[in-house]
Amino acid sequence: MELNRRTVIAGAAAAGMAATALGGTAHATGGRTPVKSLFGKLADGTKIYSWSLANGGTKLKVLSYGGIVQSLEIPDRHGKYKNVSLGFDNIEDYVAKTPYFGALIGRYGNRIAKGQFSLDGKSYQLSVNDGVNSLHGGIKGFDKHVWDIEPFTKGTDVGLYLYYTSVDGEMGYPGTLKTKVTYTLTKHGDWRVDYEATTDKATVVNLTSHVYWNLAGEGSGSIYDHELKIAAARYTPVDSGLIPTGELAKVAGTPFDFRRTKTVGEDIRVANQQLLYGKGIDHNWALDKGITAKPEHVATLRDPSSGRTLKIATTEPGLQFYSGNFLDGTLVGPGGSIYRQGDALCLETQHFPDSPNQASFPSTVLRQGQTYRTTTVHTFGN
Ligand code: GLA
Repeated sequence: MELNRRTVIAGAAAAGMAATALGGTAHATGGRTPVKSLFGKLADGTKIYSWSLANGGTKLKVLSYGGIVQSLEIPDRHGKYKNVSLGFDNIEDYVAKTPYFGALIGRYGNRIAKGQFSLDGKSYQLSVNDGVNSLHGGIKGFDKHVWDIEPFTKGTDVGLYLYYTSVDGEMGYPGTLKTKVTYTLTKHGDWRVDYEATTDKATVVNLTSHVYWNLAGEGSGSIYDHELKIAAARYTPVDSGLIPTGELAKVAGTPFDFRRTKTVGEDIRVANQQLLYGKGIDHNWALDKGITAKPEHVATLRDPSSGRTLKIATTEPGLQFYSGNFLDGTLVGPGGSIYRQGDALCLETQHFPDSPNQASFPSTVLRQGQTYRTTTVHTFGN
């Protein structure tokens, strides 16, 4: 359904919203109806919209391009709001040079070795876009498609349904994959992401979200003093192309041990082959809890300077922790700051990288008649 501006304003007035909604932004203290505004146009003229929603003290802006979280604002311990996710203020930069800022990732979050896998005796060649490997769905992954977005309010929740259908053979993947992602802001300000997908042919799926977090605010400097705890005794060591060796190695005694809270920067310069391969941390933690029916808490991130915290709960077995190693001072954020190495980190809930080629990893196969369902919940505090 196309929600036009008149409907939004009428709805806002009926809900007793503050006049701020008329300016195209839903505010935390105002009404709860998501508001749509034009963000820009693709080269072919396709209009890209920005959806603003707010609930429980969290303010979110989502683009129809890539389902991108363009901005996520939360308060610090003094109630001061900052956008804690890296991004751009224009569609051109998202199209030309984004390193997946805030985007939905599919069909396969993370790497598949040589872009190849076999399923039911058939071999598939995927689009290769990271050296010899396929990363985040290939050259034109879900992050580079326009999603259909429908707003909703349900009880005390506010949110968006995002739809994208990937045709059979897209980027080399078998099966028509119908994807629905639900972004919900709860009355407590949690940002919940529910992923669903169905296929008409056996395929592999591994959906995730690629928000670059900096809890002190995007453009405020490095995240090396953020404190992090991850409930995982093992991780997946990689080769020089960042493909897992297949081993689930113990984190004990390595820079990858985040079972006790430590700063991101504490061990990041320790001489270690894995850190050399990743140019820092770019690894998947095998979460102690494994796959769960309900989201369970797996990681806590805290910025001591602002007091802002992020807790992640997920149904997924893995967490890719990427310390922003490839940010190289060539991108400029919406606040005008240059993004440099380590200015943000990603915590991508997912199955392990290269699972289609690793028999011992939890399976990422989805068959006709099955529904892929995973959930990740982000809880904020200060
Ligand atoms: C993921 C990968 C990283 C990098 C970023 C995007 O997190 O694991 O190696 O490709 O995406 O730059």
